[in-house]
Amino acid sequence: MEKPDLLRTLNEIYAEEVEAAIRYLHMAVTIKGMYRLALRDELLEAMRETMDHARVVAEKVLEMGGVPALDLKVQLPGEMTTGAEAVRTAVAFEQGAQEAYADLLEAAAGDVAMEEFARAQVALESEHLAHFRLLLEE
Ligand SMILES: [Fe+2]
Repeated sequence: MEKPDLLRTLNEIYAEEVEAAIRYLHMAVTIKGMYRLALRDELLEAMRETMDHARVVAEKVLEMGGVPALDLKVQLPGEMTTGAEAVRTAVAFEQGAQEAYADLLEAAAGDVAMEEFARAQVALESEHLAHFRLLLEE
């Protein structure tokens, strides 16, 4: 893949990670019911880790000679979230992240350092995905 395309892919992942972190925050503060006790800290930890991924991806953009750009479209309603909704949403986020890094791995073919980064992220996001999937009740 050409460098501009790789930079665009990285910037898209940067925005996805920031957006996911914001959504994790919002879920953490709006979660209701008994699940609030079990899931709030879990969601806040996911927020911190996701925001950290965003920072690392932004640094990858800089390493490639680009400038991180954020195109965010996040609007979150003032509604409480159930535990089941939060877990389903977390599964969707983690799956999205795993796929985004798998795409990056493909796009980075030949760039060994970027391939290794993408591969490590795929492994990490796969662990997160498995973790939240185990919390699904159905
Ligand atoms: Fe994750």
